Parts: sequence; C-alpha cells; structure tokens
Amino acid sequence: MLVEELRKLRPQIVESEGEDLGEGILHLLAFVLDKFGNHNAMLASWDPTTNGIRSVFDRHGYSFKPAWAEMAPCNSGSGLDWAIDNVLTAYEEIAKLCKDSQPESVEITLGSATNLAHLADGSVTAVVVDPPYADNVQYSELADFFYVWLKRTQGHRRPEWFSTYLCEHDEEAVVNVSRHRDNGRLPAGEARAAAHAFYQKLMTETFTECRRILRDDGVLTVMFTHKKQQAWEHLFTSLIRSGFLITATWPVKTESEHSLHQARKNAAQSTVLLVARKRPAGSGAGYFNAEMQAEIRERARAAADRLQREGLNPVDQLVGSFGPAIEVYSRYDEVRLDTGEPVGVDRAIDEASDAVSQWRIEQLAARGLADVEPEGRFALLCWDVLGAAEFRFNEAKLLGHAVGMDVDTLVGAGLVTKSGDKIQMLSVKDRRRKQPLEPAEVIETMFGPVTKSGKRKRKGDVLMVHPNDPQFRTALDACHALALRYLEAGGGKSGIGSTKALVRQQGWKNESSVARLMAALVEAAPPALRKEGVKNRFPEFRAWHELLEPLFEIAPPDWTEPAAPQFGLAFPAQEGELLSDEEGEEEEEE
Ligand SMILES: C[S@@+](CC[C@H](N)C(=O)[O-])C[C@H]1O[C@@H](n2cnc3c(N)ncnc32)[C@H](O)[C@@H]1O
Repeated sequence: MLVEELRKLRPQIVESEGEDLGEGILHLLAFVLDKFGNHNAMLASWDPTTNGIRSVFDRHGYSFKPAWAEMAPCNSGSGLDWAIDNVLTAYEEIAKLCKDSQPESVEITLGSATNLAHLADGSVTAVVVDPPYADNVQYSELADFFYVWLKRTQGHRRPEWFSTYLCEHDEEAVVNVSRHRDNGRLPAGEARAAAHAFYQKLMTETFTECRRILRDDGVLTVMFTHKKQQAWEHLFTSLIRSGFLITATWPVKTESEHSLHQARKNAAQSTVLLVARKRPAGSGAGYFNAEMQAEIRERARAAADRLQREGLNPVDQLVGSFGPAIEVYSRYDEVRLDTGEPVGVDRAIDEASDAVSQWRIEQLAARGLADVEPEGRFALLCWDVLGAAEFRFNEAKLLGHAVGMDVDTLVGAGLVTKSGDKIQMLSVKDRRRKQPLEPAEVIETMFGPVTKSGKRKRKGDVLMVHPNDPQFRTALDACHALALRYLEAGGGKSGIGSTKALVRQQGWKNESSVARLMAALVEAAPPALRKEGVKNRFPEFRAWHELLEPLFEIAPPDWTEPAAPQFGLAFPAQEGELLSDEEGEEEEEE
C-alpha cells in the first residue's frame, strides 16, 4: 500500500518540485519505505535492552527470531515518522561530508570488481577495497529484501539496474555452497570445494584488475576482519597470485570488546587494513629455507611486539603480525622448497603464528610460569592469545606446539574436545568427575592410575577433577578444584572457607605455581567472562577472581564495569546466553 501511495504521489511531487529535486525527494522516500520495512517484517524483533524494535538485519542473515515485533506505522515519533527522521539525518550527514570535502563530482559505477574495463592501465593511485570474506555474509541474498521494493519505487529511474528478478547472484564473490550443488547432483563436500574455488577465482580476478589499473607506485589497501587463519590464507593467496607484494597490516580497533560473539569465538577485535603494492614483474622464485623462515619469524615477533606496546589485544597482535611476515614470502612470484616443491602461503602463516605463540610463552615465562605444566600453559595461551573457548584445529595445533603438546594429547589430557575442525575448551563443570579418587587410586603407574584392588581406572575418568580429590596432577587441575569448591559451596564466605581448607591441606603457598597460574588466568579472562551476576559457561574465572586475595594475597584486577546508561526495563541475561555453544557458525565480519 505504501509503495502504491508513493507511486501515486510521484507526478505531484515532480510537478511541484521540478524533475531533479522531485526525484531526489522520491529517492529518499523510497529509502524511508525500506527502513520502515526492515523494522516491520516477520523477522523484526523486540529489543528489551532499548525497549525498541530490532531490525530484520540486526544479524547478517534471515535467522529465526523467537520474539516477533512490529512498528506501528502512524504513531508520532515512531513508524514512518521515525523512518523519515532516520533517513533524513543519514542523508544530511552524508551531504555534509561531501560539502566538507572538495566539491568535485565523482563517478559511481555499478558492476563486478572483476572487470574494471572503464579504467585505464596504471591510471589509479590508490585502490581501497572492503571485500567479502567467503561464506560470512550472503550480501546479495540480503539485498534481495530491499531490491524487490526499490525495483518498484526507483525502478523507473534505472531500469537497467533492476532488470533481473532478484539481485545478480552469479557474479558475487562469496562462498555459497547451495549455488554449486548442481541441483543436488553434486555431493556437499564437492560443492563446498567448488564454491571455495569459485570465490578464490573471483578474488584473484578482482585483485588482478586492481593491479592492472594501479600506477607502479600505487597502493592497494584491503580492509579485512577475520577470525580464521584460513581466511588469511585465501586472501594472501589471491593477492600474491595477482602480483602483489604485501607490505604491512594495520589493525584498527572497530569491534566492541564486550560483544558476546567476540567472547564466544576467537574473533579479532580489529578490522585490519592490509597494505599491498605491485610486485615488480619477473620477481622469480624464492626458497622456503631456514633463512626465509627465520626472517618470517623475526618479522612476526617484531610486529606483535610493536602492536602490544601500542595497546592492541593478543588476537590482534597475532593477526597484525601476518602482513609484515608475509611480505618476506610475497616478494617472489613463487616460493619453493629446495626440492622444487611449491610452498603455499599457509606454511608462512604457520611460521608467523608459531613465532608469535613462542614469544607469548616467553612472556608468560617471564611472569614466572615456566614451571607450570604444558596443560596449564596451553589453557592460558588459548585465553590469552585467542581470547575464546572455541577455535580451529589449526590454531590449537599452533598453540599446542608452542607449549610442546599436540592436539591429540590435549584431547587425551581431558582439556579440550575435538569435533571435526572445531576444538572446544572444557570448562570446570565439564571436567568435574562424579566421585573423588580414593587415596590409593592416585598411585600412577606408567600405564595410568591403579585402584586398591589393582584394577586400572579409566584414563578419561582420572583426568577429570573432583574438589575432594586427595591430590592433583597439575596446577590447572588444582585451579579447577578450587573453583569447584568455591562454586559448590555457593561462593562468598563459605566458598572462601572451603577453598582455604583445601589450600592448607595441599600446602599451596602464595608463590606456588597454582597461585601464579590462577593469577595469570584471571588476567587473561575475556571481558564477557568478567561480568558479575551473569551466568556463563566458565564461572571459574569469577571464582578465581574472588579467591586470589583471600587464598594467595594477590590483588585481583579491577573488573568493575563503567556504569552503562539505562534504557527502560532491564531484563536479566538468560542462562547460556554468555559463551553458550548452541549457536552455529555466525558471521564474523563487520
Ligand atoms: C564487506 S562488504 C563491503 C561493505 C561496505 N564497505 C559498506 O560499508 O557498506 C563487501 C561487499 O562486496 C560486494 N561484492 C560481492 N561480490 C562483488 C563483486 N564481484 N564485485 C564487486 N563487489 C562485490 C558485496 O555485495 C558487499 O557489498
């Protein structure tokens, strides 16, 4: 109905305001309908934190929302009134930006970045791109939501932009497996591989075009927010194949530290600006020998060290180290082993990651953690470097390598679980054994612990922890036992009393490895785990925070949050909302 009304109004508006201004007004009114539609559709929902309507696209997908809400269209201050205000403010801000800069006209073209035929070779000084990453966001499918309305409200002005039924999906540089299933004839695995190959091809074609149009001294800047190391591999591979030399990565803080999504997964908190220049033609082959590896490691460490001094978090230090390290690799058209076998950029990234993990371990050791067992140092590194409970196999492998343990040993040690490519850290609750061990059961032999009767206990069972175990294998087990005692006694004074008894019984002193590991874990806690009164999967962090002072006379860091502005009713967070592992893969960009 709103579209019909707008179409009826068109001749009147154009007649009274003239063609140019009239069409401009109609254009903004078309946006108003889009804005209103975004807040008034089946997937719009209620936001209890602001007492308002959340738009369909508060997430990058058409995900199911359990609480549906719609905006009354004709209330003063909401509905269309609000949408008009919102669009006008945005327009004014954008117009101001244009006014503030040089008022020269700019040309805007629509088309795939794989073909920039309208730009001459070597004619551009700077190319700045913000490309899609793989299957992160299906932009054109999301854009369809608006396309169908814009076609009806603006289609008369640019019929050629609206000639297709929905948005143009075929030239989109994304991984969308469903588009490669060949009507279900291709198995999912093959379709996935085909979808990735398609994405990589389009990205390489795009960067090849960027190289063509750039001047020889021109700069390509690529904006990239990542979490997966694999994402970097794809990006670097496309850039290097298209003839670019990567010269720097600049992380720029863009994401909220307090986002639940950030805490759950090992998302970087920055957008990384990656700087690349044209690699001179005929750069030949380089060899992935000890010298190149040492240079990659040196570059990575130096970059991470600089970013740490600049106040970036450990995940960003790691990510920010990739660019300078990969420069070494990207100087050549091709990198090989002495045997002639080609070496992928993944090997160089692994080398850089490993160097940064080793560097962190050295820093941890400098804090007096050298005597903590590998299990404890691994857990600490995961929280410290990755800042999350869930990560990829490859990342776990690198961190494990840094502490001298492989991933299978870590699974065997009852610290993490592995499912496909996904590694999950176990919480203190996951690690709790039902029964304490009998004193005689903890006599470990080369082949595991033995019971009084001579029967061997199941290894997995022994590797769990009970707060009343007679002794503990590692400092991490001890920290977990203390957290369990505290939590099971209901926290507070009784929790402190119960844990003090255990500390006395075990003889853990203020300078023991248990005390030092606990303090380090508390320091590494991601912001989402520090919140008081909010249930999460890892309550041990708050327990340790409470225990440091009374048990070991270590002053805990200040975890009080700056007071947030209050909007309307406060709804308590639900159990499992924080660091729950129920959600599937989500977008990690933007
Ligand atoms: C990360 S987003 C950029 C968002 C943008 N910086 C902004 O703030 O709106 C990536 C964009 O690349 C676009 N895209 C996908 N395939 C493309 C192609 N072949 N050529 C040009 N753009 C493409 C997507 O539609 C999406 O808008």
